[in-house]
Amino acid sequence: MTAHIALTGITKTYRRGADEVPVLNGVDLEIQRGERVAIMGRSGSGKSTLLNILGCLDEPSSGGYLLDGVDVAHLPDDDLSKVRNRTFGFVFQAFHLLKGMTIVENVELPMEYSNVSEKDQRHRALELLELVGLGHRVSHRPSELSGGERQRVAIARALANRPSILLADEPTGALDTRAQVAILELLTQIHASLGTTMIIVTHDPKVAEELGDRTIRISDGRVET
Ligand SMILES: Nc1ncnc2c1ncn2[C@@H]1O[C@H](COP(=O)(O)OP(=O)(O)OP(=O)(O)O)[C@@H](O)[C@H]1O
Ligand SMILES: [Mg+2]
Repeated sequence: MTAHIALTGITKTYRRGADEVPVLNGVDLEIQRGERVAIMGRSGSGKSTLLNILGCLDEPSSGGYLLDGVDVAHLPDDDLSKVRNRTFGFVFQAFHLLKGMTIVENVELPMEYSNVSEKDQRHRALELLELVGLGHRVSHRPSELSGGERQRVAIARALANRPSILLADEPTGALDTRAQVAILELLTQIHASLGTTMIIVTHDPKVAEELGDRTIRISDGRVET
């Protein structure tokens, strides 16, 4: 069976003026459809860099990336953003919701770049807010919600285009213990009902244990074996 994701020899070197900062030095990684993978590693080890490459937000310096067997390592920007919108949902530590919009409008946002009618966008956004337990707060602004509720909105937004892969960078990093537990439960429930592949960066071994079918560690720019 073709892996959902297959990285081979991925490198990433950032340039700062004349300086080169090597971050990834040859990452090999296969992830199957529906699998949940936790990524750990010390601060600065390249976890977010790897997640950005996986999500087609950033291009590797070299190496191969096959998504369902299709080479996406070095696509032109337009093609890359199509693959990105169709395939991935993103959840970040700091939520990244737009303050000036209601929460239902925030959830609709990713669909504006797809071919979904406005009526269907609203329908789908309301359905997703229901799924994450915020069906009663759809007209509120993000500033009126708690951190845990904001992260629920961000998760609903990430699911808007029915991604096959959810990428989360420290999704519980900004939350208190109670909200953390609730977000872990929500992600577990989403995986059980939608079968979404999940790749979760975390510093917290409990999060990795709870959400990951396996945990990989980044060290010296590689996946530890
Ligand atoms: N755009 C950039 N330009 C230059 N250097 C960068 C850039 N992004 C990241 N880096 C450097 O790459 C290294 C890896 O960064 P990255 O954000 O991937 O680490 P991380 O493992 O996610 O760390 P943390 O756990 O603190 O979030 C760091 O040394 C960082 O300073
Ligand atoms: Mg990071």
